[in-house]
Amino acid sequence: MSVGERDPVTGHMTTGHEWNGIKELHTPVPKPVWFFLIAFTLFGVIWVLLMPSFPYGTGYFKGWLGVDQKQTVAERLQEGSADRAAWVARIDSEDFATILKDGELMPIVRETGHTLFGDNCAACHGIGGTGNSGYPNLGSAPMLWGDDPQTIAQTIAVGINGADPQTRVSQMLAFGRDQMLERPAILQLVTYVRSLSGLEEKTAENAAAIDAGRELFAQNCVSCHGEDAKGLKDVGAPDLTDRFWIYGSGREAVYQSIYGGRQGHMPSWGLRLSPLDIKILTLYIIDLREQQRATGGSGT
Ligand code: HEC
Ligand code: HEC
Repeated sequence: MSVGERDPVTGHMTTGHEWNGIKELHTPVPKPVWFFLIAFTLFGVIWVLLMPSFPYGTGYFKGWLGVDQKQTVAERLQEGSADRAAWVARIDSEDFATILKDGELMPIVRETGHTLFGDNCAACHGIGGTGNSGYPNLGSAPMLWGDDPQTIAQTIAVGINGADPQTRVSQMLAFGRDQMLERPAILQLVTYVRSLSGLEEKTAENAAAIDAGRELFAQNCVSCHGEDAKGLKDVGAPDLTDRFWIYGSGREAVYQSIYGGRQGHMPSWGLRLSPLDIKILTLYIIDLREQQRATGGSGT
């Protein structure tokens, strides 16, 4: 057993151990280390006593505080579904007009509708329903089949050229491909149709085409698009006199519509979504349209 001595450089005692002339200093563990060691050990012991911790044969020590995460989750879920049940029942039973005026239900409709729309509809109609070529803008374009709530809900449920036996059927005939009209006639119709919404001014050069187009239109198109070309809701034929176009307003796009026909396909959502979801989506779309009208929404 060797005896420690004071180290002349640091002033600390040595342990008295020596290896080839190297002596080991006897330095104490720093105070902060002791402090944290004790503090954390105490915290650990207290925590173990307060919270659910040690398992034993048939169960586990539940802790003095009686905290039970499982129970908390179950309670929260129950609260959540009680809340949900309350507004679900109201949206289910109240009519469209009442819900649209309800300051409590509409925020829920907007939030739930936004999610439902994002999951099911935005891929075609765009986020916020702003539309894409071939997919109408649901916020501002006139509804092909009618825009009262029941009709919109019905359109969503049965779809357009969809799988439901009740589906709405939309058939713009392929006048060119099916050889009902020759290319020159179609070109005259393109000029006439575009003139209806002011896209082509009547000039000396196109006056003859517009007049010929009007004739052709009366013979071939009014049965679906109406005498005044403002569309017929029974067959889902669009108004050709407004600024909204599903497939584009350029000469080439209008030519393609008349030459090759158009059959927009909209899934029959009644086969996939609940009546409640469809009602929420209908309210969401009507609300979108009201907001756009209020802010003077533009676009096709
Ligand atoms: C696969 C693409 C696609 C998806 C997904 C889709 N739609 Fe459509 N939707 C269309 C097309 C195409 C039209 C226009 C049909 C036409 O031109 O005749 C349309 C038209 C509509 C219309 C207008 C009907 C009218 O009278 O003008 C509404 C309302 C509508 N969709 C709602 C929805 C809702 C709500 C969803 C989501 C649940 C949805 N759509 C999902 C393709 C889609
Ligand atoms: C059998 C009914 C029917 C007849 C006849 C018909 N259309 Fe259509 N037309 C439709 C329908 C329905 C649509 C909408 C198709 C869609 O959205 O999928 C449409 C769409 C169009 C479009 C595209 C509009 C857009 O917003 O992009 C043009 C242009 C058009 N028709 C012009 C004509 C012209 C010109 C004729 C006559 C030569 C004609 N249609 C005859 C039913 C008809």
